[in-house]
Parts: sequence; structure tokens; C-alpha cells
Amino acid sequence: MHGITGGNWWHGAAIYELYIQSFADAAGPDKTGPDGIGDLAGVRQRLPYLADLGIDAIWFTPWFPSPLKDAGYDVTDYRDIAPRFGTLADADALISEAHAQGIKIIIDIVPNHCSDQHAWFQAALRSVPGSPERARFWFRPGRGTSGEQPPNNWQSEFGGPAWTKTKTADGEWYLHMFAPEQPDFNWSNPEVRAEFEAILRFWFDRGVDGFRIDTAGMLTKDPALPDLHENQHPHPFVDRDDVHEVYRAWRAIAEEYGGRVLIGEIWLADTARLARYTRPDELHAVFNFPYLSCPWDAARFRAVIDATLAQEAAPSWVLANHDVDREVTRYGRADTSFDLDNRDHSQPVDLVLGTRRARAAALLTAALPGAVYVYQGEELGLAEVQDIPDERRQDPIFHRTGGADPGRDGSRVPLPWSGVEPPFGFSPPGASAPPWLPQPKDWRELTVEAQDGDPASMLELYRTALRLRRQIPPAAPLTWQPSPDGVLAFDRGEGLRCIVNISAAPVALPEHTAVLLASTPLAKDAQLPPDSAVWLSMS
Ligand code: NOJ
Repeated sequence: MHGITGGNWWHGAAIYELYIQSFADAAGPDKTGPDGIGDLAGVRQRLPYLADLGIDAIWFTPWFPSPLKDAGYDVTDYRDIAPRFGTLADADALISEAHAQGIKIIIDIVPNHCSDQHAWFQAALRSVPGSPERARFWFRPGRGTSGEQPPNNWQSEFGGPAWTKTKTADGEWYLHMFAPEQPDFNWSNPEVRAEFEAILRFWFDRGVDGFRIDTAGMLTKDPALPDLHENQHPHPFVDRDDVHEVYRAWRAIAEEYGGRVLIGEIWLADTARLARYTRPDELHAVFNFPYLSCPWDAARFRAVIDATLAQEAAPSWVLANHDVDREVTRYGRADTSFDLDNRDHSQPVDLVLGTRRARAAALLTAALPGAVYVYQGEELGLAEVQDIPDERRQDPIFHRTGGADPGRDGSRVPLPWSGVEPPFGFSPPGASAPPWLPQPKDWRELTVEAQDGDPASMLELYRTALRLRRQIPPAAPLTWQPSPDGVLAFDRGEGLRCIVNISAAPVALPEHTAVLLASTPLAKDAQLPPDSAVWLSMS
């Protein structure tokens, strides 16, 4: 039997990941009018939609000024709002309007790297080797007789070397674990630490309720910058022990304010190492990527659920985000697992099967104890858009791998709200440009308008699941029940039984007092068909 303790708001929250540029377009830079890019005005107009969906908090992907070399994860100013999204005044209004509707605001902080246009990096380029300006980043001379080789063998997460040679007279190289336009900060430098602590305070003072911390496991590096070898321990840049000092300091700040949450984006397969980030004086929670990456397999799901509940005081359950293939597509493939380093768009996809499984996965996820994340469009059952023309693709992963990795644009396509053709109400009539990524024509059946009020729709399934879930006390423990192979069955507290059939055969339902919700229509006295889930009332 597993339970969660503590009564903080995020323990049982439903948190909606809002990818601003693809949510809703209402204004343009300096209020010049809709421009095919989502913005804060669009979010403000749609807050009632989110309240009605039943979410408790919104996590905004980065909303800071950025040259958009990595969709906003390249920040030029951490204390302002990108003009294409609005102004600080718009953010203030949004925060207070959301609060008035009972919705908390979490924003994305990007501490591993900034944009190469950030004032600090520009100052570093103008300064000499060994200067305090360069010491905020990782500048090093190259190897080889004339410094023509990178300082070490590290590879960027986006493909290619993690070092770029500057065009400065001294010809030093700088480190970027992502795109060359995203130089890594040097977290051994107290000035970097002080700056980010001040940025946390800046936004806490404006009323934000928490931070999603980007690339949270990679901030600190071995200052000797050694070459990377297989099975190196400690790793020179991933999950180093000294990164925890950063989060202890951040936690102390969050505690000063009270009621604020720090959530780490950390991709680690080792759930025990992951759990170290949520020790009582560190982060409040981490994203459950082992759960997201789990293939459609009952035993594997059960193992990851058990490991999570054994190790996390504030568990989270995530099926999708803006970096991964949407689950409708993943679950419709022969290989249903997901790996950031192996995004395979060549596999055939059965979208009917994928959608059926995604509906079952939604009920499994919403029944688990802890916080649940919903990535915008998940509630509409959107699939990964795999046929975006190459010339429209924006993701640096696609471009830096020469197209070998299709990248993440397919999960970032602007939402369909209404109407029967693009832009499907994403932009109002008269927008100066089409949506920044093209929307598939067949999304006409998946608009909010088309699904609203249709009891068979994904949207209504999510609305009902999130509403019913609010009645389950977050601390109600999970108790596994006996079930055939390939079937998950558990109780939450006394009254709710969740059964998920991942096997190939229908399964009989136990005695129950009511069917609360089913992912597939159930005939009276029917069995639960394969790839389906049901919530039963047992009391
Ligand atoms: C993780 C973010 O989710 C992703 O979109 C981004 O590209 C990298 N971190 C780098 O900031």
C-alpha cells in the first residue's frame, strides 16, 4: 500500500503545460494584431477553458525575450516578457486573473544556459580570457597546435560538438550543451548563483507560485572539463553531486515565500538517483520521465509506478510534453516505448489504436496518487504531426542532425479551437500570418468546438476524469488488487477501483456499485475490452 503525505497544493494538482506560442493568438508584438504566434492575451481569453477543464495550475514554457534559436529556451533577459507574447503588465494581469479563478502559475526558468545575445555573454565576448565576464561561462583555449580542436570531446544534446570557437582575437571556445546560441553558465561561479537567486525572487515577488527548472540535472560541470568516457563516474556534466547545493539554496528562498513549488526537469532512468533531488531540503518534485517513457506494458507500468511511489514524497505522472512524441502516436506504433535519443518517425502508426490506448492511459494516470500533468492538446487527443515540410521545421534538433532526428516540432503545432480549416480559431480572422507551424487539415474533427459536449470525445473524458479526481483525497493510498497478467487493478482509498486492460483479451469486472468512467463504451454487464480502462465505484 502506498500513500503520499503532506498537504501542499501541488501534491494532488493537475498541472497544464501551456506552450505559449501554440496555445492561442490574440495580439502581436506591441499589440500590432494577431500574427500566427500565441501570446499572453490569447491565454487570458482562454482562462475559462482551462478552469473548466479542471486544472489547478498552469506551467508556462519560457516567456522571456529570446531570439528563438530553441523556442525560447535561449533567454536574453530573465526579468522581462518577450514582446511577441506581451509585456510585464500583461503577465501581472494574467497572474492575478488566473489566481482569481483558482489557478496557480508556474513559470519555466532556464538556468543551465542563456542566449548568446544575453548581455552577460556579449560582455564576455568583448572581454579578455581570464576576465570576470568570461568566468560566468565556460571559455577555454582549443586543443591542437593552434587551438583548432574543441577543448574536450563533449557532444551537444542537439548533435555536433558542445563547443564553438569564438571569432574573438584570442580564439577561445565556449561550451554549449545545447545549440551554439545557448552558452552554458558556469555554476561554480558565485555570481551566477546570486543572479539566479535574485531572478527567483523577482518572479516570486510578482506572484508566481513556482518554477519548472529546465535541464535541472546538468547545471554543474567538472571544472577540469575532462573528456567524457563510457561509464565515467562521477559524470562530468550530468547529475553531479554538487548540483544539489544549488537546489538547497533555492529551496530556502521558496520556503521564505511559502506555498511555492520547485519542479525539476531531470531525465534520469535511475529512479533512486532521481529521488535525491526531492530530499526534504531540495526540490519539491521532479517530472516522472520513466513513466512517460514506459512502453504499453502492464508489468513495466506497475514497476515504474511502484518505484515512483516508493521513492517520491510528491510523485508526478507525465504522459507528454513539448519534447516528446505525443502519446496517441507513441501508443499506435509497434514499439510503444519512447527515448529522447531515438525518435523514430519511420514506424507505421495506427492512430485508432493509439487513441484508444491514450484514453486508457489518461484514466490510469489520473487515478494515481500525486500530481498529474496535461500537455496542451493532450486533452484533445492530438497526434504527433509527422509530415511537417522540412522548410517549415524550426527545431534545432532537426537542423543540427541534418534531418536524421525529426525533432520536436510535431508536438508543438498550434491548437485547433474551432472552425473547419486552419487556423482553426488559433488566430482570429485577419491575422497577419498563418500559424507558425502548419496544422493538419484533419484536425477539424479535434477542435475544442467539435469535442465540446460530445460524451465520446477525448476532451470530455479529460474534463470528467479531472473533475472526479478532485474528489479523491490526494493522500488516499494506492492498493494493488489481484488481476490477470497484462491487467492493472488498484484501489485509491476505499471507494475507487481503477482497472486497465493492457492484455489482448477482455477481462471480467468485479462486483461494483457503479461505473464512474470508462475509456471505451461498456455495454451493461460487459467485460473490459483490451486497451481500455475503467473507474468503478466499489462502495
Ligand atoms: C529542456 C526543454 O524542455 C527543451 O525544450 C529544451 O530544448 C532544452 N531543455 C534546453 O533548454
